[in-house]
Amino acid sequence: MTMGNDTLTIIDNRTNITYTIPIKDGAIRAMDLRQIKTSPDDFGLMSYDPAFMNTASCRSAITFIDGDRGILRYRGYPIEQLAENCRFLEVAYLILNGELPTAQQLAQFEAEIKAELGVPENIKRIIEGFRYDAHPMAVLCSTLAALSTFYPDAKKVRDPQNRRKQIIRLIAKVPTLAAYHYRYSRGLPYVDPDPTLSYTGNFMKMLWKGLEPTYEVNPVIERALDILFILHADHEQNCSANAMRSVGSSEADPYVSAAAATAALFGPLHGGANEQVLKMLDEIGSVENIPAFIEDVKNRKRLLMGFGHRIYKNYDPRARIIKQTADRVFQVTGRNPKLDIALELERIALSDEYFISRKLYPNVDFYSGIIYQALGFQPEIFTVLFAIPRMTGWCAQWDELMGDPEQKIARPRQIYIGHGHRDFVPMDKRG
Ligand code: ACO
Repeated sequence: MTMGNDTLTIIDNRTNITYTIPIKDGAIRAMDLRQIKTSPDDFGLMSYDPAFMNTASCRSAITFIDGDRGILRYRGYPIEQLAENCRFLEVAYLILNGELPTAQQLAQFEAEIKAELGVPENIKRIIEGFRYDAHPMAVLCSTLAALSTFYPDAKKVRDPQNRRKQIIRLIAKVPTLAAYHYRYSRGLPYVDPDPTLSYTGNFMKMLWKGLEPTYEVNPVIERALDILFILHADHEQNCSANAMRSVGSSEADPYVSAAAATAALFGPLHGGANEQVLKMLDEIGSVENIPAFIEDVKNRKRLLMGFGHRIYKNYDPRARIIKQTADRVFQVTGRNPKLDIALELERIALSDEYFISRKLYPNVDFYSGIIYQALGFQPEIFTVLFAIPRMTGWCAQWDELMGDPEQKIARPRQIYIGHGHRDFVPMDKRG
């Protein structure tokens, strides 16, 4: 609530001096603290915020999350409505441009993406330089960085037109990079991109085409992948978006910046959790073992993977949509028996005081792995399936950063806790 006087009065008890600093959008500017000094040569007050628990790093108009109420919106539109009504590229256009496209704008955007689906031939040789069992996320990271070598024009990061060209390339090429490595790791020949198909339909063909003369895209699976891609397209200032912005702020090109974001997503605390959910369900094995497992969780011997979130203290809206999608996928692939264990885990957890009092609800990763597995994916590739759609979010965050006149190279401060000045000690005097 605005009270008419949007300021904060601070009394520095060290000096008894009073300061008044503005409050805007529910925040004070950390730089406004710098005037608070004990003497003219004092550096000035800083704020200390490891892990950015309470620091806004930017002003952004892309994604809104209200974790307490379980709300996620891209450019103001609720995720549920976008997942229900849109194709992935329509949402990508929205995230990048701020408005839903007209039919003509979407057709043009799709045509631009489709013209860029191919990757340089050398990329195949780079992929072939890896062992057959290389982790797909490490390979994706490397091949994204490699794209930088083929597009030196991408260095013109201050030119909005040029940025747009590279963004189209990144969104278009990331499924091709992923699919080529998928085929290589299975000893299968590459399937070149097919611009006559949808974004996800083409991805499915590049992954799964066999000897049949024409690959038939299953529309249920295509739609399910589209929905999963929409749900993962952006999530405001998460670890990988922050990596994209931080690296991008040095004016590094978007390919190496996206490689850094991919590296951040690779971590098990970020994009890797869906893989852990699957391992947990395997370990539980059957519904009878659930009560004992829940007891272990409550006794703090285990975590219930796929539950809890730093921001959502309510049902993750993405988890709800994924659960509905799962039912449709299973009609095609057959039911993944792990779903019964997951449903029962959720039922027990949501009625148990331990989880209720801590506001622990299923997150996006609780059901996504079960769908991916039903589609025949191995757990190692799950995070790649997250990275492909998230490329859109990373690119939008990067483009917003580059167009923001308030932004500069990202460079946090530190509180130095090491030694004060000391003189060099010759080796024979040490120890
Ligand atoms: N199982 C059991 N207990 C849990 C769980 C869980 N999954 N998550 C949190 N808790 C408990 C904590 O032990 C803590 O209890 P206490 O207050 O009695 O000590 C309380 O709930 C609060 O949890 P924190 O760890 O403080 O919450 P934080 O915001 O730091 O952690 C996180 C969030 C990392 C997601 C955590 O919930 C977790 O580890 N979940 C499992 C892993 C997972 O599913 N990660 C995917 C997140 S979604 C994504 O990144 C795409």
